[in-house]
Parts: sequence; structure tokens; C-alpha cells
Amino acid sequence: MLQEEARKLDRFIQLLLANATVFVSGEKLAGSLKVSRMTICNWVHRLQAQGMVIEIKPKIGYRLTQVPDLLLPQLIRRELHTKVLGRSIYHYFQVKSTNDVAHQLAQQGLPEGTLIMAEEQTQGRGRLGRDWYSEKSVGIYLSLILRPDLKPRHAAIINLAAAVAVSRVIECTCSLTTDIKWPNDILVNSKKCSGILTEMSADLDQIKYMVVGIGINVNHQSFPKSLQEQASSLFLEGGRRFSRTEIILALLRYFEDLYLELQEQGSDVVLEQWIRRSSFARGKEVSVDLGDKKIHGTTVGLGKEGTLRVKLCSGQIEDIVSGDVVIWERPN
Ligand code: BTN
Repeated sequence: MLQEEARKLDRFIQLLLANATVFVSGEKLAGSLKVSRMTICNWVHRLQAQGMVIEIKPKIGYRLTQVPDLLLPQLIRRELHTKVLGRSIYHYFQVKSTNDVAHQLAQQGLPEGTLIMAEEQTQGRGRLGRDWYSEKSVGIYLSLILRPDLKPRHAAIINLAAAVAVSRVIECTCSLTTDIKWPNDILVNSKKCSGILTEMSADLDQIKYMVVGIGINVNHQSFPKSLQEQASSLFLEGGRRFSRTEIILALLRYFEDLYLELQEQGSDVVLEQWIRRSSFARGKEVSVDLGDKKIHGTTVGLGKEGTLRVKLCSGQIEDIVSGDVVIWERPN
């Protein structure tokens, strides 16, 4: 769906929500959104297919009577108490990837804190060229545009800050215990329930903008066979459904608090919290796939810029900037 059409559809839902107790005529809706009555009729059918209950009275109009669990910006805006994150919100029913939309919007100059959410991604992207499984309306698929005053080499800290915020939300809002696998996989009972893909556009010495893409498996009841061993959801681990809206509201608040602290006080505030929340920070025997080689060793903390420090058997310490970390299964 084109962005302009998606914005209008969002306005349309807003109008239906604002008039939830009365019938609104197709003509009035079409007039205020500057679209044809036929478009309104098509949108109504599309929303009905998404689970919205909309009554249709010929010659009178439309009335919204029931809203399914959708990430409606109007509801999020009403409860949001942040200064920066989520002050401008874009919601889509289906996109290829919210990170792709965020890049387009950032290039058009949209401000820091712009939030892009989708009910479904058809080409959700993960780290290291992987896909991100994005089943419709059960997960959180969002991206945030940030414009931090940081040198590109400090960008990894933002990534760790996002992981701390997600871990805190899952612990505080869902009462589940989390672990963070470097750099930013959030595990519950050793299974991955959330991942973060941070991308940036930068000059040699200045970040132009960053896109922080966060995926959280919230109410998934099952996963494709290929993912079942590593992936899980908050529903599967917690034994109940969770409100995606509530999780997003808390996430934006925690991430903003840490993001502002980071800019005022420097990276230690993030590093300390990350280390406190992760069993991978120290004393974990890990293998790291660096693409061209694999190393084994024991973790000995984080470097100033968010690198994972691994002590090899030779005693030498490697600072990992990017790679896939797994628990080392020592050969017998
Ligand atoms: C990973 O662990 O590999 C990172 C997964 C990141 C997934 C999120 S979902 C929202 C945003 N849009 C994407 O295409 N990817 C990120």
C-alpha cells in the first residue's frame, strides 16, 4: 500500500473511532479524507477482513462497533508520556519491513523519535542477512528514527540501550525473566523472544540518522519448524496473552529514559545496565562466528564502545564488533 494511502486509511480509522457511537455517512467520510465513496467502501471491507466490526446501513453510513487488537496510533498517542520517542507515529497494516519505511521517512527529513509500526511484515529483516518471522497482529514490528549527536563508532551503544529497554519491558510488564545474548537478542528461558536490527546513515565523522528496528514475539502460538528450537514468544513462555500496546508504551518510555541519560552521562550508564542484565557479559564460554573465522573463549566484559571482549585459550583478548555468538559446546 502506498504511504499516502496508508496515512489516509489511518485517518479513516481515527474518524470511525471518534464517532464510534453514531453512524457516519460515506459522503462525509469521503469528503473529509478527499477520496471517493468507492474508496471508503473498499476500506470498510478491508478493515472488516482485519477483524474490525463495522456496521453498514445503506443510505445512512458506517459505524465502528468493535476493534480487534490492533496497534492503533490514536490509542498509543493518548497514553504516551514521552518527550521524543513516538511523538510522531506511522501505522501500517502490511509493509515489507518497517526499517525500510523508516529509512525512506528519515531521508525525507522526519524528526527524531518518529515511530513506524506494522501489523505484518512481508520481508522482515534480521541481523546478518537473516529474515524476521513477522506473523500478522501477534508480534511487535516497529522502527524508530533517531538522530543522535554521536560519532558513528559509538552507534553500537544505541543498539545495547535498545536491548536493555526491551529486557526491562519484558521483565516489568510481563513478569518474565530475561537474558541478553550479545549484542541484542532477548532470551526468555534460553529462547529468543526479541531481536533488534539497528542501521544507520552516516558521514565519516557524524551519524546522519539511525533506524532502530525492534521485533518482539508477543502472542505467537507457534513458529515454523525451522525456528522452533531457538525462537519463542512471551505467550508461549508466560502462558498468557499480553497487550502489544502496553508493551510498546513501556518500551518507548524506558528506551527514551536511557537514550537521554546516555547523551547526558555517556555510555557507562548503558554498559552497566546491559552487563547487569546479561549472563553473556562475563564468564560465559562462547563460540563466535566472525564470517571468515570462528573463535572460542570466555567472555570478559564489554569494551567502551559496546564490543564483546572474549579471552581466547591463548590468553589473548579479542574485541568482537559484529558476529554471531553461541554458547560453546566443548568437544569431549
Ligand atoms: C535479529 O535479531 O536478527 C533482528 C531482528 C529485527 C526485527 C525487526 S522487526 C521490525 C524491524 N523491521 C525489520 O525488518 N526488522 C526489524
